Amino acid sequence: MHSGKWFAPGRANLMGEHTDYNDGYVLPFAIAQGTTATATRRDDDVLAVSSRQQGSQVTAFSLKELRPGAADGWTAYPAAVAWALRERGFDVPGATIEIDSDLPPASGLSSSHALECAVALALTGLAGIDVPRLELAKIVRTAENDFVGAPTGIMDQAASLLGEDGHLLLLNCATLAYEQVPFAGRMLVINTNATHANADGGYGQRRQECEEAARLLGVPSLGSLTNCGVTAAMPPGPLAGRARHVCTDDARVLRVVTLLRNPPANVYAEIGHLLTESHASLRDDFEVSWPQADVTVEAAVAAGALGARMIGGGFGGSVLALLDPAAPFAAAAAPVMAAIAAAYADRGWAAPAFLEATPSPGAHRPS
Ligand code: GLA
Repeated sequence: MHSGKWFAPGRANLMGEHTDYNDGYVLPFAIAQGTTATATRRDDDVLAVSSRQQGSQVTAFSLKELRPGAADGWTAYPAAVAWALRERGFDVPGATIEIDSDLPPASGLSSSHALECAVALALTGLAGIDVPRLELAKIVRTAENDFVGAPTGIMDQAASLLGEDGHLLLLNCATLAYEQVPFAGRMLVINTNATHANADGGYGQRRQECEEAARLLGVPSLGSLTNCGVTAAMPPGPLAGRARHVCTDDARVLRVVTLLRNPPANVYAEIGHLLTESHASLRDDFEVSWPQADVTVEAAVAAGALGARMIGGGFGGSVLALLDPAAPFAAAAAPVMAAIAAAYADRGWAAPAFLEATPSPGAHRPS
């Protein structure tokens, strides 16, 4: 193909945080917002990238000379994907790629993975190679881990590449088996406007702590724990908390899926409780929450949300709130948004931003 457009969405996550790199379960979904790559094939070996959100200035790389460390800032993401595809043996061509996105950067909605997935589809599309989506997700993980230097898992790119309209993606991160789970709940994302970055130290430190906790417990990974009670026998301290969070959040993913498969009358209220429980676990046991997220969760629940929790890596980013599905979105969201905005204003914090989170189609070629 000589040229084309490819779109990859951001993601939100209903349940299962910091479980992906522990070989546990996650339950994310693609959102409507995302990143578009408009790409044209070139005859030389140059990858030329520009972004409307970054002033449209063009940065060019020689494909053959791409090495980890050879790119920085936002251009590291497209360069990383081209590098990882070539490392994996795919002979992607030189290309000019223009990026446009309606995802707020560093908001915990995985704008970086949306960018990487859009570029991965553009480069393989131009090359005429059809790489299975799960395989592409793994290549994007390599790009992110080994080139960008962010030790993240596979959840975000899996949600962006495999998401389906009206569905959550249940992914077993140990086996990479997945299933689409229909979901009709109404959700609000609150961007707390406290920014985060997964390449910063906190995320990597949690990952190491999880490995250490698994070693102490004598299991290959925390996702293989079947009885969360064993964490009570660990010496009290951060490692016990890390293990307890991963184990209980993993169990909450499966609990949500069970509730959705055989829904009781109050299914959304029950899922809401699990969301708020997950937030407490991320705040107290995993220690990745931040002040705006805690205040958002508290204000949302007090104003009538069924439950809420921080999503993504933490230390900044977004909160997901589950709303009453009996009311239209606008009516259910209005009091929750007003309460959160007032709580921020009281504390003199920058105002939050809101968006409706709808499980949407995964990456595709826009018509
Ligand atoms: C980030 C990472 C994911 C996952 C989440 C936490 O979004 O990219 O792989 O680890 O944090 O659940």
